[in-house]
Amino acid sequence: MPTGANRYDASLAQLKRAEAVIPLGAQTVSKSRLTLPAGIAPLYGSRAEGCRITDLDGHEYVDLISGLAAINIGYGDPDITAAVVNQVPLGVTISLTHPIETEVAQLIVDLVPSAEMVRFGKNGSDATSAAIRVARGYTGRDHVVVCGYHGWHDWYIGTSPTRNLGVPDDVAALAHSVPFNDLAAMEAALMAHPTAAIIMEIMTVEWPAEGYLQGVRDLATKYGALLVFDEMVTGFRFSNGGAQEYFGVTPDLSTFGKGMANGYPLSAIVGKREYMMVLEKAFFTGTFGGELLSLTAAKVVLERIKSTDVISRISAKGEKLANLVNQVIRDAGAEHVVSLQGHPSWMFLVWNPELGDQLADLKILFMQEMCRRGVLMIATHNVMDAHDELAMKTIADAYAGTLPIILEAIAAGDARDRLDAEVPELGPRVR
Ligand SMILES: Cc1ncc(COP(=O)(O)O)c(C=O)c1O
Repeated sequence: MPTGANRYDASLAQLKRAEAVIPLGAQTVSKSRLTLPAGIAPLYGSRAEGCRITDLDGHEYVDLISGLAAINIGYGDPDITAAVVNQVPLGVTISLTHPIETEVAQLIVDLVPSAEMVRFGKNGSDATSAAIRVARGYTGRDHVVVCGYHGWHDWYIGTSPTRNLGVPDDVAALAHSVPFNDLAAMEAALMAHPTAAIIMEIMTVEWPAEGYLQGVRDLATKYGALLVFDEMVTGFRFSNGGAQEYFGVTPDLSTFGKGMANGYPLSAIVGKREYMMVLEKAFFTGTFGGELLSLTAAKVVLERIKSTDVISRISAKGEKLANLVNQVIRDAGAEHVVSLQGHPSWMFLVWNPELGDQLADLKILFMQEMCRRGVLMIATHNVMDAHDELAMKTIADAYAGTLPIILEAIAAGDARDRLDAEVPELGPRVR
């Protein structure tokens, strides 16, 4: 297994082969060299089991990326695998609609407060785009207010100054991005444009201020816009019924994906019947919408969520991990450099913005040193039920080894010199 400067030889060789035939060498921007810099972190993986992932060079990591938060149970859960394997010989994509669609839809209706009806897609972007189509169809309005990240489709990504290449200006002009926890900005946007929908992530790094979510709910009603909660990450993670149940505010529509099927490709738009019935006329369809392996996986996941305490266990594990890491941060004397913020199941490592120009290099140095110590992490703890005691110890030890290096690099102002590879300037991340 290569170490030192050769640690990622196999990943780097694979990157070369991949870049010859695949733009970016990856299908997912957050798994590409734009996020995991070449020579600093592994780029290619060979297998994942439980809470651990093995890279192409044979190093094993405790995984805190967790398939970009798509894994909430764990890799290769035996019950999910058995159900999927049993389904394979019976058909994956068949020519008729299968009853399991109704079964999984019913489970979601049972769990999610805003869900009276459900339609499935494959990616989260399918579901968020469907929600915007429904809202536009229902209200007869074109403008949308967005708050958070909602996928790669034109209607949303046109709001990103760095990722909007290829989006027509006329389309981009219909979406208006507002900051989180700012009701005045939200109301100003609603006053400026006849708005079909407010679509928002209920919470990322920052907790919603007292009354904020209810305030958004009231504004949506006042201005005749549909309220869409994008629960791609928070759904089946914050609580059984998602962040909407956790915070007690019910939207008109919501969107789910990621943890719903523990990594199998499935997303959903759900909502009140009155709005969802727009989908009998508005066009939302896909050859793979009823693909049976993902629905089979979702059925096992959702039944487990309904009948066990798995979701609260994920939060409890996240809290335990945060306590351990906070102790390490204190012991290292690094409280002025980093802190953990967010919901226990999805904690963000937040850096002191006063570090200014050094920050980009420090974040990469952090990734490099955590990887060397067997932890794969970008900027968040994406907790899964499979994270065990040993994994938590590995993570705490990795922080304990990494933070002193970060402090030394800050003191000497030499973070860049400590990197194993030259890293091109990374663009701002959209998520
Ligand atoms: C909140 C949110 N909405 C939408 C999406 C888009 O989902 P997908 O990448 O599956 O299309 C994501 C993906 O990270 C997300 O986090």
